[in-house]
Amino acid sequence: MIRAVNISKRFDGHQVLDGISIQFEPGLTNLIIGESGSGKTVLMKCIVGLFKVDSGTVYYDNRDFTAMKHHEMKLLRKEIGMLFQGAALFDSMTVLDNVMFPLKMLTNLTYKQRVKRAIECLDRVNLHGSNRLLPAEISGGMKKRVAIARAIAINPRYLFCDEPNSGLDPRTATLIDNLIAEITKEYGMTTIVNTHDMNSVIGIGDKISFIHEGKLWWDGDRHSVLEASNPEIRKFLYTNQILKHFRPEPPENPDSPPMYSV
Ligand SMILES: Nc1ncnc2c1ncn2[C@@H]1O[C@H](COP(=O)(O)OP(=O)(O)OP(=O)(O)O)[C@@H](O)[C@H]1O
Ligand SMILES: [Mg+2]
Repeated sequence: MIRAVNISKRFDGHQVLDGISIQFEPGLTNLIIGESGSGKTVLMKCIVGLFKVDSGTVYYDNRDFTAMKHHEMKLLRKEIGMLFQGAALFDSMTVLDNVMFPLKMLTNLTYKQRVKRAIECLDRVNLHGSNRLLPAEISGGMKKRVAIARAIAINPRYLFCDEPNSGLDPRTATLIDNLIAEITKEYGMTTIVNTHDMNSVIGIGDKISFIHEGKLWWDGDRHSVLEASNPEIRKFLYTNQILKHFRPEPPENPDSPPMYSV
């Protein structure tokens, strides 16, 4: 489980995260949803330590990440897989070398062992016969698969995916979503996915956290999300043309917006 408590982050006077508290469960695909610019990527980067928080605490299974010494943080990083917004493969490296890269950086495996593990991971994401290709020679969907294979190569306990299916056609996007959800269950990982794709929300949202104005405004799952009464999440959900046709009436007692703590 990962827990962020009272996280704040500001850039040049712009308060992006405003004392947000949020929790992610193991073995589940935990989605963070919110409008573009609502702070999903900043929140993810704060949780993995790519941004330093102004205040607040992050716990990885009760280990206080924000209080860790440098060497403890390095150890924890070996438990974290990350899929960045836009796949972010190394253009000059082959598919195989991309997947082997974190193994070289973070493990003591021999070259032969690294090749074996990278091939296993590429097999797991159904990429066969592409090992020697460069990122420029494969499709967008294949790039995402390579990025997933690279993220799971170190066998992480925690997997972070920032907009994993952006820029893909709906069918390929669903295949990528399902792959992430399957791997999460298979390895019992705590997976966190940033998205504003409603198909992902309804398809794989085991736990869904809606962020707005730097705070958590609603959380629930894919079964409760369409009936959420919080006006801000309803605005977010029902700008989607297809969902407009299924728009249920909000319950009589609207949620008290927003939620400030978990
Ligand atoms: N390094 C940075 N320096 C200054 N401001 C930043 C930085 N990174 C993000 N921001 C600001 O923080 C806000 C939230 O950005 P963020 O990228 O987290 O949004 P997002 O919810 O991930 O959006 P999207 O759905 O478009 O990916 C934006 O206003 C952005 O300009
Ligand atoms: Mg983002």
